[in-house]
Amino acid sequence: MEIVFASRHESNPLEWVNALQQALPEHRVRLWDEGGSGRADAAVVWAPPAELFVREPGLTHLFNLGAGVDALLRMPDLPDGITLVRVEDGGMAVQMAEYVLHYLIRESRDLGRYAGLQAQARWQPLDDIDRDAWPVGVMGGGVMGARVAQACAALDYPVAVWSRSGRPVAGTRAFSQDRLADFLAGTRVLVNVLPLTDDTRGILSRAVFEQLRPDAYLINIARGDHLVEADLLACLDSGRLRGAVLDVFSREPLPSDHPFWTDARIQVTPHVAGASLMSLTVRQIAGKVRAVVRGESITGVVDRARQY
Ligand code: NAP
Ligand code: GLV
Repeated sequence: MEIVFASRHESNPLEWVNALQQALPEHRVRLWDEGGSGRADAAVVWAPPAELFVREPGLTHLFNLGAGVDALLRMPDLPDGITLVRVEDGGMAVQMAEYVLHYLIRESRDLGRYAGLQAQARWQPLDDIDRDAWPVGVMGGGVMGARVAQACAALDYPVAVWSRSGRPVAGTRAFSQDRLADFLAGTRVLVNVLPLTDDTRGILSRAVFEQLRPDAYLINIARGDHLVEADLLACLDSGRLRGAVLDVFSREPLPSDHPFWTDARIQVTPHVAGASLMSLTVRQIAGKVRAVVRGESITGVVDRARQY
């Protein structure tokens, strides 16, 4: 196979090319250059240039370096027949779990307030935690969502998971798509780990926030376009939501004059909740390339109709 690596985001793409080449010595791996060779069978990509599909018409497989394929599916020249394969975990799920736990614990134990008390040299223990007052609802029970949910459940928070199928996630209550209202009614900390699709775009809206338990908290680590920004601000203003942590935004990087930067109720991080780790991701892709060459089926193939 000839495999081309094409990413507009990698600062050192040659590192990826070398790692892939080492993992697949029997294949040829090369860096995308504007001309293309016209001979590539597969591409490993993250935000690839649009010309890739024009210059490499023989591509049969596209290995995405991330879990979310929404940006790829929006590319106008993406050929219908090409098989899209996403990263399954790649070291991201445990990072997503860490991220959520960090903010969940900080909020539920009020740990942020101790900095203010320290500044005043005040020795003042705050209230004990009542975990039942902090039920967590995870939207999306896939590779990321299941790991996040189980990590919260392992610390004895009550956890519910909402997914299309309502597939069970051990230690949590599962809700299928048609039970959104029941799921929201029992949730105080809403964590979004859904893929961005036509069905889920704008799902984090006033209509959803208003069904949560009082004094609710939002953690969005999926995609910025899941969130209706004006609804978030309105629900923070009305007190319906106590705060939010946002890792992803409709425009990234978040513009420097965006109001989220200076809003004390919102914590902003720069799309870092989970990064695919090179060694694990390369090993996974190499295994799948070999399986494809042997004519075997592989996991992580995107269902174009479902958009994830
Ligand atoms: P996944 O394994 O495909 O899981 C997707 C989950 O969402 C599944 O449980 C699916 O239900 C559910 N779902 C899809 N559409 C739904 C709908 N309309 N209603 C209810 N549930 C729906 O995906 P993943 O690997 O967990 O990744 C999820 C997303 O996380 C990615 O798409 C990406 O946007 C985001 N992400 C962000 C970062 C970051 O750094 N911020 C890192 C990695 C991933 P079923 O189980 O029934 O199919
Ligand atoms: C990151 O956002 C991913 O989708 O992997």
